[in-house]
Amino acid sequence: MTRDHNVRVVSNVRETLAYWRLRVRLSEPITIRPGQFVMMRVRDAWEPLWRRALVIYRAEPHAEGMDLEFLYKVLGRGTAQLSRQRPGDELQMLGPLGNGFPLEADAQADAILISGGIGLPALYLLAEALVRQRRRVQLFHGEPTSESGAPFSALEDFARVLGREAITLATEDGSLGFRGLVTEALEAYLEHHRPRRASLYACGPTPMLRRVAEIAVRQGWPAYVSLEARMACGFGVCLGCAVKTRNAADRLPHYRRVCVEGPIFRAEEVFWDEV
Ligand SMILES: Cc1cc2nc3c(=O)[nH]c(=O)nc-3n(C[C@H](O)[C@H](O)[C@H](O)COP(=O)(O)OP(=O)(O)OC[C@H]3O[C@@H](n4cnc5c(N)ncnc54)[C@H](O)[C@@H]3O)c2cc1C
Ligand code: FES
Repeated sequence: MTRDHNVRVVSNVRETLAYWRLRVRLSEPITIRPGQFVMMRVRDAWEPLWRRALVIYRAEPHAEGMDLEFLYKVLGRGTAQLSRQRPGDELQMLGPLGNGFPLEADAQADAILISGGIGLPALYLLAEALVRQRRRVQLFHGEPTSESGAPFSALEDFARVLGREAITLATEDGSLGFRGLVTEALEAYLEHHRPRRASLYACGPTPMLRRVAEIAVRQGWPAYVSLEARMACGFGVCLGCAVKTRNAADRLPHYRRVCVEGPIFRAEEVFWDEV
């Protein structure tokens, strides 16, 4: 159930130049759907006022409650302050929030996961759940270059779940893996290994999501995209995260809140020119 939790930092380490991994402990287990997120705030801090959104990367129930892991990139004040938290410090965590990825989409279809940059953590719990359903899963992950401190340790986490051969890394400068955009790597793969049926699940920059949506239409497959929006409240009251979507039933435009009705939408519901 969504509520405010006081959580304790277990560890908070810089894994690469760009990425930090935060582990927090809850006193009781909570139910999480893959792709859900939390709004995190350093306890008793006045600045910044608003919490910051972080997707739940990994979850591990144990005798004392549950540990949650987050992967984050330090961009500005909120994430810089988070990076200064030490083991034993307390954080205020509102969550879990959002709808999560649909697992029942097509139980017989292959699952193709596509991520770019900090989109990767949104897909880990999904990968675990799909493997539990015995689905065939492929992950395509893209970075501009391997030299910026790409999240290789996180890719190792995925390799333990999916197997190394199920993962394709693309770098735009070709410094590691496929040379080019991650969506180009996906298209190259589909030329030779096109499954009969597949569902696409994606999280990353908007141009990448838009391209995934086009690929899905061309192949006739469903695609689920996790949208990012600047969020103030995270639970539906400020309307700051609203995006224009089409209603599946009447095809009419509706504004929907990324924090409540999202962050995951069917790709064809999104007005891509207005995201
Ligand atoms: C549902 C959801 C889940 C998220 N999960 C993660 C996650 O797991 N890991 C992670 O690292 N980040 C995640 N983010 C993004 C994260 O919330 C922002 O990076 C964070 O709010 C930046 O806060 P800040 O105080 O460091 O930066 P600010 O001081 O608020 O901003 C610094 C700079 O970053 C830019 N910026 C801020 N927020 C965003 C954003 N959402 N997208 C693009 N640019 C932004 C600003 O324009 C500004 O230039 C998520 C966002 C959403 C909506
Ligand atoms: S962030 Fe306030 S309504 Fe979504």
